[in-house]
Amino acid sequence: MSENFVLVETRGRVGLLTLNRPKALNALNDQLMDQLGAALQAFDANDDIGCIVITGSEKAFAAGADIGAMKDWSYMDVYRTEYIGRNWETLRTIRKPVIAAVAGYALGGGCELAMMCDFILAADSAKFGQPEIKLGVIPGAGGTQRLPRAVGKAKAMEMVLTGRMMDAAEAERAGLVSRVIPAERLLDDAIETATVIAGMSIPVAIMAKESVNRAFESSLHEGILFERRVFHACFATEDQKEGMAAFVEKRKPVFKNK
Ligand code: HXC
Repeated sequence: MSENFVLVETRGRVGLLTLNRPKALNALNDQLMDQLGAALQAFDANDDIGCIVITGSEKAFAAGADIGAMKDWSYMDVYRTEYIGRNWETLRTIRKPVIAAVAGYALGGGCELAMMCDFILAADSAKFGQPEIKLGVIPGAGGTQRLPRAVGKAKAMEMVLTGRMMDAAEAERAGLVSRVIPAERLLDDAIETATVIAGMSIPVAIMAKESVNRAFESSLHEGILFERRVFHACFATEDQKEGMAAFVEKRKPVFKNK
């Protein structure tokens, strides 16, 4: 029987996934990534869930891909199996908002996993880094692409070339994380934030996420056109009617996700 490397819980309309391989600082092996992929897809398909939180332990969100498992691979092993295709891309395909709640180490694939989430909430204990160069490799799950988009070229290049870590305060200043929270409050705060999002119209939240992500995939002109078309599409939803009627009637909206 395989071990339970991802704990799956719900908190109201929030799906909570806890990486659970504590002895290896949540090093991301194939089993863990497969379990994470399956759990993410199940929450994405579940109409009772409006937002997903991925977290780790106090000591580590994840200290990277499993080095012990990787050390003897050949070029053909990784090329033929498209290793990083194996559930490393699943998170990117999740349509509902996903928050990373990071305490402790988020290194290598752990930092890349956090950056694949829609935003990162960091405990004051969080440490981010892409230390792959110290192992004789480069980041392989988007680190060289997402880190510069998040923190700019200078800081990303320095981190990728030296492997140094960034603490939570620096990560906030640089724009890698949306907020820093005292470690003991991290999970409560992340669930609270996710609950706010889960209270919105799910289809409209998906439209908002798609539109913000478009900013990183297109020219400004194309992005603005995409946003405008999606804005128009909001008026085809019942939730737009409900949201605006509720404002005018000075009451709370009740979204039906339609
Ligand atoms: C496998 C790991 C691991 C990893 C830690 N462990 N990180 N095992 N893969 N990435 C294991 C250790 O071997 C050790 O196991 C246990 O976790 C505790 O780690 P320690 O090193 O004893 O803890 P500490 O001294 O506190 O140091 C913490 C640390 C260090 C600074 C985070 O563990 C570290 O540098 N880890 C590697 C970080 C890294 O290089 N990540 C990038 C990986 S490459 P035992 O059995 O000895 O107790 C990558 C490529 C992504 O991610 C490509 C995407 C597909």
